[in-house]
Amino acid sequence: MKEIINVELKTRTVDFSRCKTDVLAVGLFSDAEGLDRLNKELNSKLDGAIERLIELGDFKGKEKTSAVVYGNDKIGAGRILLVGLGEKKKATLDTLRKAAANAARKSVELKAHTVSLALHKAFGGRFDLSAMGRACGEGMYFGSYCYDEFVTESEDGRLGSVSVELIDSDSAKTKKLKKGLVSGVVIGKAQSYARTLANRPANVINPAKLAAVAKQLAADSKRLSCTVFDEKQLTAKGMGGVLAVGSGSQNRPRFIVLKYSPAAKAPSTGPTVGLVGKAITFDSGGISIKPAANMDEMKLDKSGGIAVLGTMKAVAELALPLNVYGIVPAAENMPSGTSYRPGDIVTTFSGKTVEVQNTDAEGRMILCDGLSYAVRQKCDIIIDIASLTGACVIALGKYMAGLMGNDDGLIKQLQRASENSGEKLWPMPSGDEYAEEMKSKIADLKNIGSRWGGACTGAAFLRQFVADKKWAHLDIAGVWNFDKATEFTREGASGYGVRLLTTYLINLSNKKK
Ligand code: BES
Ligand code: MN
Ligand code: ZN
Repeated sequence: MKEIINVELKTRTVDFSRCKTDVLAVGLFSDAEGLDRLNKELNSKLDGAIERLIELGDFKGKEKTSAVVYGNDKIGAGRILLVGLGEKKKATLDTLRKAAANAARKSVELKAHTVSLALHKAFGGRFDLSAMGRACGEGMYFGSYCYDEFVTESEDGRLGSVSVELIDSDSAKTKKLKKGLVSGVVIGKAQSYARTLANRPANVINPAKLAAVAKQLAADSKRLSCTVFDEKQLTAKGMGGVLAVGSGSQNRPRFIVLKYSPAAKAPSTGPTVGLVGKAITFDSGGISIKPAANMDEMKLDKSGGIAVLGTMKAVAELALPLNVYGIVPAAENMPSGTSYRPGDIVTTFSGKTVEVQNTDAEGRMILCDGLSYAVRQKCDIIIDIASLTGACVIALGKYMAGLMGNDDGLIKQLQRASENSGEKLWPMPSGDEYAEEMKSKIADLKNIGSRWGGACTGAAFLRQFVADKKWAHLDIAGVWNFDKATEFTREGASGYGVRLLTTYLINLSNKKK
C-alpha cells in the first residue's frame, strides 16, 4: 500500500534547548500560573520571546491553538511550537494525543523534516510516561495523516516522510516513553492504514479488492490467516443475507475471515473474540435508492469492516495473547435487474428468515450472517462495528458512536477502552421493545422498524443473531469521517474503531494475566 506520509518515530535523551530539530513542540495549559520549568528554560534562552508572545495575548494556551516562536543561536531548534492544552483540570490522555496531532499537522504544513516532541513535560507526573508515549505516537500518526493518493497536480507539494522523536533529558524517562511509543506506533500506523482504505472510492475498492487487501495483510503476518468465500461458497454455505445485498452489483460479494492465533509459546487462556465489521463498498440504497445529495459519502460504508482489518493488523503486530477473528462480510449495494427487492424473503446463514422491507437497510442483512458465523466459530465475545443508521447520527451527532449490547461487563470494558483511546461512544438501548418492532408477519424478522429509534431497532435486529454470546454493537455512522479539517486532522475518513478495539483487546489481554 502506498504510504501517505511516512512517519518515523523514535525516542532520544537530549537536553531540551540543545536539541537540533526543525520543530520542537512544547505544551502550555491555559490556566497555568507562569511558565513551567521547560518553558522557562526555553524562554530565557530566547530572550523572553515566549513571555512576550503570551503578554501580547497572541497565545493563551487554549485548546486547539498553537503559536510558532523562531529559534536563535542559543537553542538547537529552528522553531519552538507552543501547543495549547486548555484547562489543566480537564486534561486527559486525549488532550496529549490531540496536542501531538496538532503539532503533527502544523509540522507537516511547515514542511519540517524533523520534529521533536516534549509535550509530555507539561503534564508532570499526572499520567504514566508509557501511556503518554503511546498517546503521542497515536497522535502523531493521526495528525500527519493526509489522503492525497490521487492528487497529481498540487501547487504546494508535501514531504514524503517526517522524522519524529519524543525527547527527554532524563534517560530513565525516555525509556518509559519508548515502551508506550512502540505500541502507539503500531496502533497509529494501523489507523492510518484504515483511513486510506476507507478513503478509497468504490471504483478503486470493491468486495473482491477488499478481500485481496485482507489476503495481503495475512501474507505479511505469521500469525494471521485469511479465508475468503466467493459467491459459490456463499451459496453453498447458505449465506443468504450477503448474497441478497450483493445481488445487484457486477462486483460480486465476498465474505472475509481473518484469524489471529497467538504464538505457541504464549497461547491464549482467555476468551475468543470475534470482531464483525460491515463492509458495504458503496451504499446506493439499492432499489430503495437514496437521494442524490451527498451520496458520494456512501463510499465510506465499508468503514466498519476496515476498522476490523486495521485492528487485526495491530493485534498481529502487538502479538497479543488472545484468539481473535476478524469477520468482514463485503458487498456493494446497487440497483439493477438482479437486485434484491422490497418484499423479498431471505433465508440467512442462521436459518432465520427476513422479510426485506427496505433494501437500504442492507448493513444488518450482511451483518447477521457475519454474527452467525462468529457464533459458529465459538467466539465467546462478539463485537460488531458498522455504519448502520442515519438515526444514530441524528441521536448523537458526529462526536460519538452508539454502543448497544447484551452484557453489562462488556459494555463497561468498551467504555473503559473508549476513555483510554479517546474514541468516544455513548450507550443506547436495544432490548425487547425494539426487538418487537422487527417481527414480520410472513417471516421471522423484517429488516426495518417504525420511524422512531432507528439506531435501536437496527441493533435489536442484530441481537437476534448472537445466540447466548456476549455481544456489543458499535454504530459508527456519525464518526466515520470528519466533514471539515480541524487543527488535528484533515477531512475524510477517521479510522474510528482501530484505537478503540485495539485498546479493548490490549486491556483484555492484560486482565487475564
Ligand atoms: N449506510 C447507511 C447508514 C448511514 C446513513 C450512514 C447516513 C451514514 C450516514 C445504512 O445502510 C442505511 O441506509 N440505513 C438506513 C436504514 C433505514 C432504511 C432503516 C437509514 O439510516 O436511513
Ligand atoms: Mn443503506
Ligand atoms: Zn449502509
